[in-house]
Amino acid sequence: MEPVELYLHHAEQVVTCASRGPKRGPGMAEVGVIERGAVAVRDGRIVAVGPTTQLDGTFAAERAIDCSGRTVCPGFVDAHTHAVFGGDRAAEFELRIQGASYLEIMAAGGGIVSTVRHTRAASEDELVRSASCRLDEMLALGTTTVEIKTGYGLSVEDELKMLQVIERLDRDHPCDIVPTFLGAHAVPIEFDGNAEAYTRCVIDEILPEAAAWYASSRFAAQGVPMYIDVFCEDHAFDLGQSRRVLEAGIEAGLKAKMHVDQFNNLGGVPMALELGAASVDHLDVTGRAEIEMLGGSGTIAVPLPAVNFNLGMTEYADARAMMDTGAAVALATDLNPGSAPCPSMPAVMAIACRYQRLTPAEALNASTINAAHAIGAGDETGSIEVGKRADILVLKAGDFRHIPYFFGGNPVQTVIKRGRVMSL
Ligand code: NIG
Ligand code: FE
Repeated sequence: MEPVELYLHHAEQVVTCASRGPKRGPGMAEVGVIERGAVAVRDGRIVAVGPTTQLDGTFAAERAIDCSGRTVCPGFVDAHTHAVFGGDRAAEFELRIQGASYLEIMAAGGGIVSTVRHTRAASEDELVRSASCRLDEMLALGTTTVEIKTGYGLSVEDELKMLQVIERLDRDHPCDIVPTFLGAHAVPIEFDGNAEAYTRCVIDEILPEAAAWYASSRFAAQGVPMYIDVFCEDHAFDLGQSRRVLEAGIEAGLKAKMHVDQFNNLGGVPMALELGAASVDHLDVTGRAEIEMLGGSGTIAVPLPAVNFNLGMTEYADARAMMDTGAAVALATDLNPGSAPCPSMPAVMAIACRYQRLTPAEALNASTINAAHAIGAGDETGSIEVGKRADILVLKAGDFRHIPYFFGGNPVQTVIKRGRVMSL
């Protein structure tokens, strides 16, 4: 018998989400269910997956978990978060209920720049502590890999502080982290609304420091990419500024991502595709022709429906049309203190199923294998396949559709991260 650390057996369903690349279009409907399935784990990696009748008797496991009546699926990947920040914006939540819009609050000096104030005032230790609590909650809800953006520092010193925090979280927290430099998130108040001058500051001063930091970080050492992102929007960065920031980032060795078409379509999608962006995120007001372009591209479409929900919007990104044109769609929380104070991928899946007409299978692929590819982690995680990291969930129910169906609670019974059973 082959010695293994962990053996999960007799799962009602093992949902593999197995795929060579991201799943596209109609392929997103297929999750790969093995009934009465089993999974074996050694050295933190998956060494076997198949029907229990086939695997039983092969492995001598240090720990075996009987998954009768339960589902086994890949850990969720949250491909877009702003999980490191100081303070909160509960007061803005109330203002919005009373009728103020997100962009109005932002134009009046609230919004992102108010979080910048609190993030600058917080120490590195304080930011690590508060973000760790958020990651704990995300992990308990099944998220095992998280992309985290900077963008609440907006100066050399404060953006580097955020990067340090992100690196410490990756080192000390069980979740794996992928870093994104979002120096072009908002125009900080010392630039007095001069987006052009601040764009130059990002390109000439902050980005070079961030890229140098990355080169000697644990991320580069482990082959984890760093991304560069930009908020292309009115009151933030226009199309030309966004292009210059992304091109400078690519030149410095980072990979591109973009916040596009959240409130206004400034033409971000064609430009992001031209630059070979890994993903385009939000896509709320993206036009039909651009959706078709996405369908034929290698760029992953990442709608962020928790934002629409939290902003009380009735319109959602047309994820259904994106899949119908053959695009690879991923989901993410966009966890941030303003537009999406939401740590829960299951909640995001529930919203996507009801308001964007994803089926439960499409929502699960969008939250695992496709989300992993959106952050360059698709060869390591996002599916239950031999050789991948053992980032695995045991769900309370015996049917994966319960993740979005039985909404508002926590569908996860047990989280296994790199082969370790987490006590949460
Ligand atoms: O993705 N849109 C820009 N950035 C975030 C919001 C960040 C914030 O409000 O603090 C987003 O929605
Ligand atoms: Fe965002």
